[in-house]
Amino acid sequence: MGIKKTVSVLGLGRMGTALANALVNEGYEVTVWNRTPKTVANARSVATPEEAFKSDVVVTCMSTYEIQQPLLTNDIKVLVNLTSGTPEQARRTAEWAKTNGVEYVDGVIMAVPQQIGTPGARILFSGNENHHVLDAFGEPVHVGEDAGLAALYDLALLGIMWATFGGYLQALALVGSEGVTPEQLTPMAMSWLGEMAGLLPEMGEVTRTRNYETDVSALDINVSGLHLLTEANREQGLDTTLPQALHALFERAQRSGHGNHSIASVIEEIRK
Ligand SMILES: NC(=O)c1ccc[n+]([C@@H]2O[C@H](COP(=O)([O-])OP(=O)(O)OC[C@H]3O[C@@H](n4cnc5c(N)ncnc54)[C@H](OP(=O)(O)O)[C@@H]3O)[C@@H](O)[C@H]2O)c1
Repeated sequence: MGIKKTVSVLGLGRMGTALANALVNEGYEVTVWNRTPKTVANARSVATPEEAFKSDVVVTCMSTYEIQQPLLTNDIKVLVNLTSGTPEQARRTAEWAKTNGVEYVDGVIMAVPQQIGTPGARILFSGNENHHVLDAFGEPVHVGEDAGLAALYDLALLGIMWATFGGYLQALALVGSEGVTPEQLTPMAMSWLGEMAGLLPEMGEVTRTRNYETDVSALDINVSGLHLLTEANREQGLDTTLPQALHALFERAQRSGHGNHSIASVIEEIRK
């Protein structure tokens, strides 16, 4: 076995700690730095980021880019940035790295800390195709040359997650207002989500061709449904922010002339 690179991890929050542990488990010589001093078993803790920059590879995983950026210097040789941000923030950091002679990999973690180091942990990365130490964390997937693409996929997928979880919590509150338990609703919700997921490929294709003719379900009937959902939540004394937001968006698409078209036509309103 060849000599493994030395790796530093900056940021020992929930995720950074999992990353540092995974690197130790993979046999890397690991150095860690955190604002609030913390230790990771079998890793060397240092008091300053500069000491951490002596390693071959520096992995960052902090709350935000705003916190991380002032800490970075051109002493870093390879920066593997796993802090979540916008595509523009990722591109700006890639530009900073280029200007400062730092090799740069931009990655996003589509997993929770408990999954890190298992094959199920998907790490999307973009820009540089050399993924360096990402193998230690799970399954690295290169999503394109533009450094901002990993962040773009990340936020797109998280958007689906937040909308789904928000819808699920609203549903639990709605049925719960009549004493129905999560255990009663959740199996139905899971099979329903599976069926809905099966509709995505066709919906995606329709947004590409922009042929919104439908013999399945017109937008009109869905706007009426969202009105009913909003009213039902109101009647039960619940917050209506989520159904109202969807109703407002779908209704705007309806007013733009898509009433007889499929739900996919709402994308025209989103793109405006
Ligand atoms: N947790 C997840 O499930 C998950 C999943 C995917 C991606 N991520 C991403 O991973 C990154 C870290 O998330 P996390 O869950 O590990 O967050 P966390 O547990 O809240 O940890 C935040 C980290 O940022 C550091 N930090 C915060 N403010 C700082 C400051 N002003 N100066 C220096 N360091 C500062 C914290 O240091 P202190 O310990 O000193 O406060 C800590 O190391 C985020 O970008 C997140 O979006 C997380």
